[in-house]
Order: sequence, then structure tokens, then C-alpha cells
Amino acid sequence: MKLTTLLSILAAVAYSSASIVARQDIDSVAEAILANAASDNIDLTVLDFLDTVLEEISNATTLAIERRSSGRRATPSPNNIFDVHTHVVPSWYKLLVPTTGGNPTPDWTFNSHLSFMETQGIDRAVFAFSAPGPNVYVGKKLLTVALARLINEQTAAYCKANPTKFKFYAHVPLPYTAEAIVEAKYALTRLGASGIVLQSNVEGSYLGDATFTPFFDALNKFGGRQILYIHPADPVVKVKSQLVTANPTQYPAGSIEFYFETARTLMDLTLTQTIHNFTNIHYVIPHAGGAFPATVDRILKSRPQLYDSSFEVFNSRFWWDSAGPTYFHQISGLLGINVPRSQLLYGTDFPYAPAVVQPGSLAAVKSSNLFTADEKNAIFTTNAEALFGGF
Ligand SMILES: *[C@@H]1O[C@H](CO)[C@@H](O)[C@H](O)[C@H]1NC(C)=O
Ligand SMILES: *[C@@H]1O[C@H](CO)[C@@H](O)[C@H](O)[C@H]1NC(C)=O
Repeated sequence: MKLTTLLSILAAVAYSSASIVARQDIDSVAEAILANAASDNIDLTVLDFLDTVLEEISNATTLAIERRSSGRRATPSPNNIFDVHTHVVPSWYKLLVPTTGGNPTPDWTFNSHLSFMETQGIDRAVFAFSAPGPNVYVGKKLLTVALARLINEQTAAYCKANPTKFKFYAHVPLPYTAEAIVEAKYALTRLGASGIVLQSNVEGSYLGDATFTPFFDALNKFGGRQILYIHPADPVVKVKSQLVTANPTQYPAGSIEFYFETARTLMDLTLTQTIHNFTNIHYVIPHAGGAFPATVDRILKSRPQLYDSSFEVFNSRFWWDSAGPTYFHQISGLLGINVPRSQLLYGTDFPYAPAVVQPGSLAAVKSSNLFTADEKNAIFTTNAEALFGGF
């Protein structure tokens, strides 16, 4: 036998034994996912694309195993930006949700995300799925509950592939409040989620809705600081008991309807005193508050007894991310309502906001004359560290 042949056989054996280890690891990951779901009474098999998701989770898991076994560390770089608003879009989710906010759902891979970060000077990020998250199956509880669990397992798998770079927000299957509490507990305690993402409206109900109050109460009672990220979703109205997307303009909902969604749900959370009553909960509000800074005085004018106490909450437990081109003029709205600069965060909204718009958004913060160099550094890095902690 020629030496080269022998070597290639040995190499093949070595390679396959490595992949057997990996294979077992992956099988046990899928088994654990199914078993954990079953013990929370969640039947993942109601989703007919379950196998594809498990495959994508196992792909992410393989990546994590490879990185561990090669002992490879991310190349050290001068990057220090902490991106608190960015999304994962596995191909199975794009198939399920082909459009978002009236625009085509973008293509994305985990590796393309790493490259994006590299080009923008970003070294850490908090992942979330974008709208509609688990609310793809309006009125269908079993499917919604199962999808929320798979979404969380998927995001957790991406984070495990590179734990020094990524944290994540977990989704919960509201409007099913009891199941949402179970999911929040699982995601925060077992999957290591950093917080929970809620959408501005859940099947047409805004977040101050009394049926959701037990969720806020339960989250508040988990103790410590709990982070809620309030992401905008398409507005809907009920027409003959059907939910219909409500966009009175010819423009995609992502253009400005999302901004009004943020204002609507903050109005609801404020006037119902949800934000006042559950004092362990901190809120992250995307897009520099959307239309909220422009509307807050009008909202509170109808309830003057809540004026001061609401601003106390906004100025202590609210954090605002910059996703989208919000730094040219819009940020002045937040500064105008005296939001502390220590609670401003940087977000990219990648890949929904594509790579081409990112250098402009970055430059807008860097060249802004509203902030000192130290304040800019804090917006890029240390404010987010103060909220999310280290890695
Ligand atoms: C998993 O990775 C394999 C190999 O790269 C690829 O062919 C497959 O499409 C991936 N699966 C999913 C669900 O993305
Ligand atoms: C918050 O507490 C006030 C009483 O202080 C009560 O009137 C209000 O209904 C509560 N709201 C929620 C959402 O718990």
C-alpha cells in the first residue's frame, strides 16, 4: 500500500471519528430540545418544518463544536461596538415569513453576520428574531407555543456557537399568557436569554391589555433586573372578526407605521401604569423611541397625575436603541425629553436595515455634535455593558 493511500485512510478514520463525536453531540442536542419541550407540555411536532429547524440548530451546533475543538478565538480586533438591535433570519424563517413590514424578508446566514460585524467595528451583539416572531399562526395556540420554543432554541444555538460575541432576547407565545410565562422562565433560566422581546401589538392587542398583566407580574417576580425589548410589528385592525394589516398609506409599514406602533404601545403601557407597577422591568425601545418622543406630552396631557411618575420611569428604566438612521435629527427628540445619555444604545437592525445603509448610521453618531467623545464611546459600548453585563 502506498504511503499516501495509508495516510488518506488514516485521515478519513480520524475525520469520521471526530464527526461521530459531533454526531452524538448533535443527536443529544435534538433529543434534549424535544424532551425539554415535552416536559413543558409543548409538542414541537405540530410544526411540519421541525426537522429543518433541528438541522439548522445542528449546523449551528457543529459550528460551536468546531470552534471549541480548534481552540480558535475570534481574531482580536480594535472593534468595540455593542449592537443591541440585530436579527437572525435562518432560511426556514424566511420561508415562513417572506415579507416583513411590507418589505421582502432579507437573506441571512450566521457567517454573513460575523462578516458584517467585522466590517462595521462591531464585536458583540444581542440577537432576536424580528416581527412577527412566533405570531405567524393567528389564533392557533399549539402552533404559536411550539414556534416560540423553536425560535428560542434556534437563537440559543447561534449564541452558543460564539458565546463571547452573542446574547439574545427570547420570544414568548403571547397572547397565551400562561404559556408565555412558562417560555420566559425556560428561556431565561435554561437557555441563558438576556431578556424577552415583545411585539408592539399581539394579534391586535397592545401591551397594556389586561390579559397580559399576569405576564408582566410574573416577569417582575422572577427577581433581579428583567429586560423587555419592545419591537414594533405591523398594525392590524379587526374587520368582520378577521385581523387585517392596517396601513393606510401606499408605503411599506416599515417606513413609518412601525414608529407609530412603538408610540401606541408605549401609550398603552404608560396609561395602564404597567410600566409603573412592575419595577424590576427595564425596557429597551428601538429606533430611538419611534414616534414616542413627539407624542409623549400629548399622551400624558390626558392624565396629568401620571406625568411626573411616567417621566421618572422613562428616565430610569427605559433604554433607547438607535436602529435605523435615527441619529441625523431624530435623536434630538429623545434629548428633548431629557432622556439620560447613559441610556442611549447603538443598534443596527441588520439585516433588515441592509449593510449599505450602515456606514451612514455609524458616521451619524460619530460625527454628531450633540455628544462628547466619551458619550459616543458610551453609546457604542459601555451603556450596553451596563444594561446587559459582560460576556
Ligand atoms: C446545514 O448545513 C448543510 C451543510 O453546509 C447545508 O447543506 C444545509 O442546507 C444546512 N441546513 C439548513 C437547514 O440550513
Ligand atoms: C397599577 O397600579 C394602579 C394602582 O396604583 C392600578 O390602578 C392599575 O390598574 C395598575 N395597573 C396594572 C397594569 O397593574
